[in-house]
Amino acid sequence: MLEISIDREQPTAEYYADLTSAAAALVDGEPDAIANMANIAALIWQYIPDLNWAGFYRMVDSELILGPFQGKTACIRIAVGSGVCGTAAASGKTQRVADVHAFPGHIACDADSRSELVVPVMKDGRVIAVLDLDSPLPDRFSPADEAGMMSLIKAIAPSLG
Ligand code: SME
Repeated sequence: MLEISIDREQPTAEYYADLTSAAAALVDGEPDAIANMANIAALIWQYIPDLNWAGFYRMVDSELILGPFQGKTACIRIAVGSGVCGTAAASGKTQRVADVHAFPGHIACDADSRSELVVPVMKDGRVIAVLDLDSPLPDRFSPADEAGMMSLIKAIAPSLG
């Protein structure tokens, strides 16, 4: 198994650069998208603090379906356009939500969630999945978290679908 060692004390941008390198190494040479999503969800769960859920929804027949994740059991199907995940999938744009209770149509899979970051996974110009991160802390995700997580996902997107 790959040895991963990331200095937790370094600035956010450098931290995400190291996390992206670890993610790229984890998926390197592995064609199975589900296995790769499972390892990436575990990597993020281990290295991004203050999360209560981290994982993927996959686009299947124009609907989001629960994929590999860490955290409590979750909603299985989400319509495109519905909730934070469905909004990210419909728009192809990252959703960084400081207060999920203020987001129209937010789907409360876990009542502990207070803030959320959803990054679309793009392949050949289409949304093939979304990465969903939930935190029990309000306003947990900074612009630097958004930028870092978007570049991580962009780097490994070809291995996720
Ligand atoms: N809160 C999400 C649903 C997925 S769960 O948080 C795991 C949403 O509104 O899309």
